[in-house]
Amino acid sequence: MEVVICRSYAELSQAAARIVAELLNHKPNAVLGFATGSSPVGLYQELIRMHQEDGLDFSKVMTFNLDEYIGLPPDHPQSYRRFMNENLFDHINVPKQNTHVPSGTSANHVAFCQWYEQRIRDAGGIDLQVLGIGSDGHIAFNEPGSSLGSRTRRVTLTEQTIDDNARFFKKKSDVPRHAISMGVGTVLEARKLLMVVNGKNKAPALAAAVEGPITSMITASALQLHPDAIVFTDTDAAAQLKMRDYYNWIQKQARKAD
Ligand code: F6R
Repeated sequence: MEVVICRSYAELSQAAARIVAELLNHKPNAVLGFATGSSPVGLYQELIRMHQEDGLDFSKVMTFNLDEYIGLPPDHPQSYRRFMNENLFDHINVPKQNTHVPSGTSANHVAFCQWYEQRIRDAGGIDLQVLGIGSDGHIAFNEPGSSLGSRTRRVTLTEQTIDDNARFFKKKSDVPRHAISMGVGTVLEARKLLMVVNGKNKAPALAAAVEGPITSMITASALQLHPDAIVFTDTDAAAQLKMRDYYNWIQKQARKAD
C-alpha cells in the first residue's frame, strides 16, 4: 500500500484528483467507484474545477457508489444520491443514467444487491474506487466484524457510526440504522483503491488499517491485501503512523527519480 502524507486537506484532495484525472485521460470510459461523507468533498471540488477549467471529460464515465441509507428516498436531503448530485454529478458532464447509487428504498433488498453486483460486473468492474475511512475503521459501511469476503448487502450501522454521522441530521434519532453497502470483497475487486483521510479523529483508525493486522474488526485493513491501493492523508490523520518517516522518504525518492 502506498501512503502519501500531505501537508493539508487541499493538497491531499488535489493529489487524489490528479490520480482520477490521469485514469480518465488514458481511459475516458473508466468505471469509477465513489464514496460520500466529508473526506472526498475536496477531491470532488477539484474534479469539478478540472472539468470546468481544464475540460476533464466525464461523458463516457460510469459510476458506482459504495452505499446508501435504507429508508431515505433519492431526493431526501441526507440521502447519498442527493449528496453525490450536489457535490459532484450536477457539476460535471457525466450522464445521470451512467451514475449508480444503491437504492435505500427497494422493496426487495436481497434482489437489489444482487442486481447491483451484476451491474458492476456488466460494466467490466470498477477501475478506481474512492474510499474514506470511518473512525471505527470501516470502509463503505462494512462495520467491525464484516467478512473480508462480504458482498453488497443490507448492513446495520454501529452506534459509533450513527454518532459520527448525526452531524448531518437534525437529531441523532433521525440517522437511519441500516444501509445498503458494497462488501469488502466487492471493494477489493476494484482495480485500484484510492483512500482519502483527514483529521486527527481518524488517526487511530488509519494507523490500525495501514500498520495493524488484517482483520475484519478494521475492515479498512483489507486494503493491505490489494495490489494497487494508495492512501492520501493529511498530517493530522497520519499522526499515529509508526512508519511516517519511511512513507515520506519513499515520496522524496520518487520525486528525485522524476
Ligand atoms: C461513505 C462511506 C463511509 C465514509 C466514512 C468516513 O460512502 O462509505 O465509509 O467514507 O464513514 O466518513 P467521513 O468522510 O464523513 O468522515
